[in-house]
Amino acid sequence: MLTYLDHHASTPCDPAVVAAMAPWWTENAANPSSRLHRPSLEAAAAVAIARARVAEALAMASEAVIFTSGATEANNLALRGVAEAALERGDPRRGLVTLATEHRAVLEPMAWLQRHGFPLTVLPVQADGLIDLQRLAGALAPGTLLLSVMAANNEIGVLQPLEAIGALCRERGVLFHCDAAQAVGHVPLAMGELGIDLLSLSGHKLYGPKGIGALLRRPGVELAPQQLGGGQEGDCGAAPCRSP
Ligand SMILES: Cc1ncc(COP(=O)(O)O)c(C=O)c1O
Repeated sequence: MLTYLDHHASTPCDPAVVAAMAPWWTENAANPSSRLHRPSLEAAAAVAIARARVAEALAMASEAVIFTSGATEANNLALRGVAEAALERGDPRRGLVTLATEHRAVLEPMAWLQRHGFPLTVLPVQADGLIDLQRLAGALAPGTLLLSVMAANNEIGVLQPLEAIGALCRERGVLFHCDAAQAVGHVPLAMGELGIDLLSLSGHKLYGPKGIGALLRRPGVELAPQQLGGGQEGDCGAAPCRSP
């Protein structure tokens, strides 16, 4: 019998999740945004419940949740959305900081932003895979806009000291994005307590379906939409991006 052990890459969907989803694929396939008939209103109510549950898991309010197709999209929305919003409001800060051990879904949007005028600092990690907090403190300059550090590493599983990182970011007025795709559902994460402004997660890493994820956003964090023409997540395609 085959024993599947590659759960960091993707988890099987929990049968309870499949059962909870089933009616929404078959019996009620209405568009929750239509709002013109009862099936649509029921679908919208189910989406609201799902949003509240995701928010609760991260100790946030429902309004914080922007549903995406996965963590890759959430990371791109967070990084490119913050950078573009800063440009649009004339914020002079452009600096970005991240770790060499981040997932490509962070490193590649960061590299794209670097090519488009946002200076990037990629910090090495220590021999144990952990961030060097002193080095981080030195890298967060007055012109730094955003730091992105993952919660749990997808290769070696190391857990970064999020609370200390968040405290440093708050002290310096730097936005803190955390790719928590490998941590949500495995370790408790209260975004506010940890000082995290933006957090990415992925359904298929925590026994949910493939093709769903979320970006959670602390109120007041401005994001420019990266998908145009979809109002269902309030124009990010997400909840009002500019002033929540
Ligand atoms: C840390 C991390 N971030 C992002 C991703 C991308 O997630 P998704 O497949 O939901 O786009 C992964 C998946 O391997 C991951 O491990």
